[in-house]
Amino acid sequence: MARAFTLLALGAAVKVALADIETCPASSLLSCSSDSSSASCCYESPGGLLLQTQFWDYDPSIGPSDSWGIHGLWPDNCDGSYQESCDKSREYDDITTLLKNAGKTELLEYMQTYWQSDDESDEDFWEHEWAEHGTCINTIDPSCYTDYETGDEAVDFFQKVVDLFKTLDTYSALEAAGITPDNDATYKLSEIQSAAAAIHSGITPYFECEDDALSAVYYYFYISGNAINGNYTATESPDNSNCPSSGVKYPPKSSNSKSRK
Ligand SMILES: *[C@@H]1O[C@H](CO)[C@@H](O)[C@H](O)[C@H]1NC(C)=O
Repeated sequence: MARAFTLLALGAAVKVALADIETCPASSLLSCSSDSSSASCCYESPGGLLLQTQFWDYDPSIGPSDSWGIHGLWPDNCDGSYQESCDKSREYDDITTLLKNAGKTELLEYMQTYWQSDDESDEDFWEHEWAEHGTCINTIDPSCYTDYETGDEAVDFFQKVVDLFKTLDTYSALEAAGITPDNDATYKLSEIQSAAAAIHSGITPYFECEDDALSAVYYYFYISGNAINGNYTATESPDNSNCPSSGVKYPPKSSNSKSRK
């Protein structure tokens, strides 16, 4: 009896921490490498291409003027098509509280700075990113967790997006190659691509332009294991950039970029 009680108490103490997602074997297949393997907690399918997507929001200017902003982490199918809103029952309506309750205040502050929307509240934007894309990542299904409680997988998702984003500092990568925001200068697409490839295992990410000006970048990965603690391997985008090959603009954000903190 006493022993059972101890275990129970221990269980309760452990529960303060987040539930743990399964650890996948080192032999886990790389996503998109097998047509015959079906989705599991260690094989991301059908969305085996994970894209860490970022904005360059200069009109209006959103977020710090020396950083691109986070858009999200999207599971595209291997051919570039994609699913959306895969589980209505997990469309959480208060990400801010979910993160606070998980003790993720530092993460939340980071998101308030680097993951801002240009047309809705940050909370709405985060809810949308989770509901539309996050719920389609099958390796973070609740069934892949021990001691799962509602929302644990979304907390892991937001932490992972930020962790990945921090390894993909587009602004600094371009700056290191002399490519800086400027109202007058224009750049070659190839020089922009190779500057960003330097932070993506030498592989060119997808750049999007609007009116010949940089507006977004997508970094593509395959994963082995699950999307939280699995390994990300850079890969090519299935799409070609819509930017012109030369004369690409990179307009500065206004110096008083609004922060919605
Ligand atoms: C990821 O890479 C690490 C280091 O090489 C390895 O120990 C681990 O087993 C790998 N995990 C998967 C799921 O491939």
